[in-house]
Amino acid sequence: MRVPMIAGNWKMNTTVSEALELVNEMLLGLDKIDNIDKVICPPFISLATVRELIKGSSIKLGAQNIYFEEKGAYTGEISSLMLADLCEFVIIGHSERRQYFNETGEITNKKVRAALKVKLKPILCIGESLEENEAGRTEEIVTGQLRASLAGLDYPNGLIIAYEPIWAIGTGKAATGEQANETIGLIRHNIAKLCDKEIAQDVRILYGGSVTAANATEFINQPEIDGALVGGASLKANQFLGIVKQAAEIRHRLSG
Ligand code: PGA
Repeated sequence: MRVPMIAGNWKMNTTVSEALELVNEMLLGLDKIDNIDKVICPPFISLATVRELIKGSSIKLGAQNIYFEEKGAYTGEISSLMLADLCEFVIIGHSERRQYFNETGEITNKKVRAALKVKLKPILCIGESLEENEAGRTEEIVTGQLRASLAGLDYPNGLIIAYEPIWAIGTGKAATGEQANETIGLIRHNIAKLCDKEIAQDVRILYGGSVTAANATEFINQPEIDGALVGGASLKANQFLGIVKQAAEIRHRLSG
């Protein structure tokens, strides 16, 4: 059985002291919930301090991006090697990076490889735009993104996928549970074709896009959906805790 995961993508929010305040608000509540992966992804500058704060707890840490080279003259960039002993996960290919920083499939592929090389687990984001969705091109787009990002990788050990329809990110207009489940089923099917059937069954695939404590159950209840990548609602301790609690209850019900 795949272990559900709820990951909070804080994006470009919180100063170091705000990050500590937010973690302090969630720490005890989150730590108590077991059987699911609880991941927070604060900005780079807060990773080291947050890591100290959550030490000894069951909360896991992720970064929001990496550069694909290990080191060198790349002013301002952070490599996977630098993050390897700081955190366990890294978000790769978020639609905001594809949109504002021109990240192509080739770049996300290099980043996925760089992460796997140092045993950082990539949370690879894929998803279609509103026009693509309305033109009935969802499958073609997500499959293309998947193929490009995983090209040449037979056994991407530790890989996590987040299906995030762009039209649902930060808009308050989430997909329906059925819509997300159907697309995630297609993604799993394509991973089986691209890599291996066993991998496809093991890979956790999350839904992301306007997930809140009010709608989380609708997604996590779906058979193909293994959790959520949460943006806005992960910046509010009670919202994030609420989502994690729902995932834990569902897991408890399914395994009991
Ligand atoms: P949102 O963001 O939950 O604010 O829609 C999700 C994401 O971008 O990962």
